[in-house]
Amino acid sequence: MEYISFGGGLRVSRLCLGLWHLPPSSEVDQYGVPKVDEEASVRVIRRAIEMGINFIDAANVYHGVMQGPDVRHVGHAEKILGRAIEGLDRESLVISTKVRGRMADHPNGEGLSRKHVMWQAKESLRRIGTNYLDIYLMHRPDPSTPIEETLETFSDLVRQGLVHYVGASYFAPEDVPYIVSFSREIHLPFTVLQEPYNLLEREIENDKLPLAEVLGLGVMAYIPLAQGVLTGKYLDGVPKGSRASYVPEISSRYLNRETLEAVKEFHGVALELGVKDAQLALAWMLTKASQLNVNVVPIVGATSISQLEEDVEATKIKLDKELMRRLDGISRKAKVNWTVKYDRITRR
Ligand SMILES: NC(=O)c1ccc[n+]([C@@H]2O[C@H](COP(=O)([O-])OP(=O)(O)OC[C@H]3O[C@@H](n4cnc5c(N)ncnc54)[C@H](OP(=O)(O)O)[C@@H]3O)[C@@H](O)[C@H]2O)c1
Repeated sequence: MEYISFGGGLRVSRLCLGLWHLPPSSEVDQYGVPKVDEEASVRVIRRAIEMGINFIDAANVYHGVMQGPDVRHVGHAEKILGRAIEGLDRESLVISTKVRGRMADHPNGEGLSRKHVMWQAKESLRRIGTNYLDIYLMHRPDPSTPIEETLETFSDLVRQGLVHYVGASYFAPEDVPYIVSFSREIHLPFTVLQEPYNLLEREIENDKLPLAEVLGLGVMAYIPLAQGVLTGKYLDGVPKGSRASYVPEISSRYLNRETLEAVKEFHGVALELGVKDAQLALAWMLTKASQLNVNVVPIVGATSISQLEEDVEATKIKLDKELMRRLDGISRKAKVNWTVKYDRITRR
């Protein structure tokens, strides 16, 4: 595994493992929600670490199978991470998690207020079973809290040694420069953006990636395989057990004629090269990031060890300029049914 500097001196693996979706079990819980296969999840996380992935991404709201947050299921993925890393060398790992989503049904049960962040930072530490978080991210803006209150709270967590670096996920590009400059004023190490990015969804090439380059931030790219669509698994319908079989949003977002045609053409290129579609999608991102001179780490999700092993191989694939031009052409043909829309921050 290759390691890169990420937003400063921190060294992270070329791929990060994300815990939003973990291997599902065939059982459902008392609410009718599919359960997470905890043993399989622990095996996937441990295998990732064994293969040299030192970077793992969670969020306080993640359950492991449910797509959206639900107070009866939050915190679960962090607990599974805690089980998986028990007994391992904590110092060898870079763990990121996030705060903002609803964790309880009371007025301070969500958001980026000092009260909520202080509570949830300690809860995430307890669930993961660690003394500190390497990266703590604002999961989304919270317009009801002045951004300075959140950043000052983050700064206190850093001074207490509970957090090392901080960042933001899915904030308006117009708000990022102020967040970074205020953080610098208060000596807060704000070093990371976490954003959606894949061959079919490339909006951040227009704003966040140029910002990251100028401001020296690392970018954690989420949904790098378009939630599985770029693996080609949906070309002949929705396979049993795949994410789209229990997450309807995938069909409405991606499974239209134009996007499927683009994915089919992309599949043809992978076949020509003798690589898997997932590997080509990840290799495309790594190559594009280096062309754009930005440190981008794809956060991959995996529901099995074989998927993970396949994805890790992508880091060895080299793509030349001609091939990148061909893939750019293919990506322009897709029509993803999703509009980027940001909440704006509030300033004091
Ligand atoms: N900040 C945010 O708001 C935000 C939002 C979303 C995600 N994230 C982060 O980004 C991470 C990744 O998101 P994601 O899971 O949607 O990423 P993704 O890598 O685009 O999709 C992962 C899914 O693709 C399928 N897959 C992966 N490798 C495969 C392979 N080699 N062959 C066949 N199928 C393969 C699996 O789905 P199947 O279930 O079909 O097997 C897997 O769960 C999350 O875990 C989370 O950490 C952050």
